[in-house]
Amino acid sequence: MTSSAIPAPKGFVYSDTDSHVECVYKDGEWGALETVADPYIKIHMSAGTLHYGQTIFEGMKAEKGKDGVVRLFRPDENAKRLNRSAKRLMMPTLDPDFFIEAVMKAVKENIRFVPEFGTGSLYIRPYMFATQPVLGLDPATEYKFVVFVVPVGDFYSGAVQSIPAFVVENSDRAAPLGVGAAKVAGNYAASMASTREAKANGYPITLFLDAKTRTYVEEFATSNFVGISACGQKYLTPCSASILASITNKSLEALASDLGLSVERRPILIEEVKEFSEVGAVGTAVVCSPISQIVYKSSVFNIRGTATGLGPILQKLYDALRAVQQGEAEDKHGWIKIV
Ligand code: COI
Repeated sequence: MTSSAIPAPKGFVYSDTDSHVECVYKDGEWGALETVADPYIKIHMSAGTLHYGQTIFEGMKAEKGKDGVVRLFRPDENAKRLNRSAKRLMMPTLDPDFFIEAVMKAVKENIRFVPEFGTGSLYIRPYMFATQPVLGLDPATEYKFVVFVVPVGDFYSGAVQSIPAFVVENSDRAAPLGVGAAKVAGNYAASMASTREAKANGYPITLFLDAKTRTYVEEFATSNFVGISACGQKYLTPCSASILASITNKSLEALASDLGLSVERRPILIEEVKEFSEVGAVGTAVVCSPISQIVYKSSVFNIRGTATGLGPILQKLYDALRAVQQGEAEDKHGWIKIV
């Protein structure tokens, strides 16, 4: 499918497109998908989302290859994760095929906004929120599911450069048995104060530790944590019940195995991180951003391999991932859905 070229998007910022997709849940079932041009949504002042926070979302990307073909990356995984989040917040689930149909519709109807090959991606934001007016603390019975799209560039400006990270100690992202593993809006709001403070001190990204012992790595405010061992043979990523299961991380794990690395998903002590040869922040929006140093209490862990950009191992993994997403490499894991 072809479209006329749009200017290369700058950064990760919202801009209007032609339309978005909406769908209403009422009387125990989802209605039909509708295309809506107006970007404003009118909801009741007492809608459950506004005060009890029943809001979940996803992040995905569509990419145009050199061949002009637009590809979605692992939308079935986003469908599964949205449903896990929905269950956690007592919200209705969506048939995965219906979820993918909604995403495809939103992309197809805004196909002219998909950036040209190598200039950016079309970021896709599916989300669901409670619309029923409520007062008592009970799950709502009415919801809206929305999918909007935005052409985007790099999340962290100049993403090829490395960024320093600050370990947050004055707040937690998620409680051990809380909602950290669900993609709920509140988790992101909870990280804003410490991230704003860190940014003011020159650290664009914050890293959270486990809330119980504050000794194990959890995840960055925006993305999962990945480290490469000193020997360069191991792909290491934390295991915890309060980390969001990143689809990018899961995909990089598979690619790391393909490259002959051993993959370890296990608790990682923050003190262990200083031994790592490379560290990356991985997620849909950030892709695989290199971390130059990690500031923890009064220590600075300089990460040699990612001091000025992606190190040799993360670069290989990044290239392998991007090649699949852009249709440059064989999709041997079956991750791509053509739009
Ligand atoms: C994503 O990576 O898609 C996310 O939803 C994270 C968000 C901070 C942009």
